Amino acid sequence: MSLVREAEEIRENGPRQRFPDKTVVHLFYEPSTRTSCSFQAASHRLGCNVISLNDKASSAEKGESLEDTIRTVACYGDAIVLRHPDKGSAARAASVSRVPVLNAGDGNGEHPTQALLDIYTIHRELRVDLPSFDRDYLNITFVGDLKNSRTIHSLILMLSQFPKMNFVCISPPSLELPDDIVNQVQIMQNRECISMNAMRLRDAICFYSDVLYMTRIQKERFESVEEYDATMAHIDRYTLTPELMTLAKQKMIVMHPLPRLKEISVEVDADPRAAYFRQVENGLYMRMAILQRCFT
Ligand code: NCD
Repeated sequence: MSLVREAEEIRENGPRQRFPDKTVVHLFYEPSTRTSCSFQAASHRLGCNVISLNDKASSAEKGESLEDTIRTVACYGDAIVLRHPDKGSAARAASVSRVPVLNAGDGNGEHPTQALLDIYTIHRELRVDLPSFDRDYLNITFVGDLKNSRTIHSLILMLSQFPKMNFVCISPPSLELPDDIVNQVQIMQNRECISMNAMRLRDAICFYSDVLYMTRIQKERFESVEEYDATMAHIDRYTLTPELMTLAKQKMIVMHPLPRLKEISVEVDADPRAAYFRQVENGLYMRMAILQRCFT
């Protein structure tokens, strides 16, 4: 069964099984609200025990390597949920762990469980079955900090495995999608399927986009405050307003991994096409499905 179907089944009927003899270790070395809370809620709803640790309270503060911490917590847990500021940290952790490591975001690398809940959201909201070949092209527009958005990195790579995808990328010039991801996407789709900064947000919204995926500019990943301020001077170009929403398809959905800063004005929240808080809820069921899969 696909994880999307499993998440949907859990939403409707609850989990197939509970796992009171399993312990999930949550290791969060970067701030998190949704990913951390949803993994904790998912663990509890599956009846698991939870150990939560952050970098300030752990021996990482004393200089312990990630590898040694992982080897240690793998002695107490049956799965490890890891968020870490370094790209590649989840792979490093998995290479020394004897239990599954779930990547809950590794620096500006990837965020695969978010991509899964995003695909679940697209599936629910648009009622599209992504693997089917008989639909029209699905037009997805990504906006904001595409260089640092690990949620977009994972989502675009995951979506590229399905046929008939078109991607429009709109970002400040210094924050474009990394080349290695663009190349992988083109190879998987086997055609030119990404347009990079060739459209303004207004044009991309205007009767084109089925999904508008907004992201914030990630201040914490800039080298200097000056560089960040220079980027923010043009933020209006990457901001969604109710006026722009009047141009969008009736069935377009707006997604955002959150936290939202000013890139979506709060007035947009009342629009039924604003899916970002429903997306949050989907995260709970998808993470329950992922943990259930780990333990069965
Ligand atoms: C994002 C993240 O941490 O990558 N949020 C999330 O996990 N839902 C996005 C962000 O920090 O901007």
